[in-house]
Amino acid sequence: MENPQPLTIVEGGIRMKKPKASKELMDLLNKGIAREIQVAVQYMWQHVLWSGVKGFAVKDELKNIAIAEMKHAEAIAERLNYLGGIPTTKPDPIHVGTTLKEMIQQDQKDEEVAIALYKKIIAVARKEEDEVTHRLFRQILADEEEHHDVFSTLLEEI
Ligand SMILES: [Fe+2]
Ligand SMILES: [Fe+2]
Repeated sequence: MENPQPLTIVEGGIRMKKPKASKELMDLLNKGIAREIQVAVQYMWQHVLWSGVKGFAVKDELKNIAIAEMKHAEAIAERLNYLGGIPTTKPDPIHVGTTLKEMIQQDQKDEEVAIALYKKIIAVARKEEDEVTHRLFRQILADEEEHHDVFSTLLEEI
């Protein structure tokens, strides 16, 4: 594992420990955090917008998945902090959408992006023999595949 950074660095007054992972892996974790915050807000706002009868079956699903995404953001941020990185607070662009179909199509696409990114993180973590990150992302990947399945099923019904 290459590690070009010094033992301690002081950045913005925060004293950081020696990083325990490659920059590549830490950057990938921050990409994961950015998209988890994005979808947490996106799904929660979609849940709020579809409080009427038409979105009745959909809104609870959206709320539950939004909460799951926020938990993912927390878990990844904790891992990145442990590894010596600084978790981003900046979400990827949020696309709430206007019609229910448009929303769920976007969400399905976002889950596909997550699945591809997390497969990559799993591969890099394996290469770096980072068992904990590897295990964490296998668990998160299983959730994202489930979300993708929920959105795909919903799309057949709306
Ligand atoms: Fe997630
Ligand atoms: Fe998800």
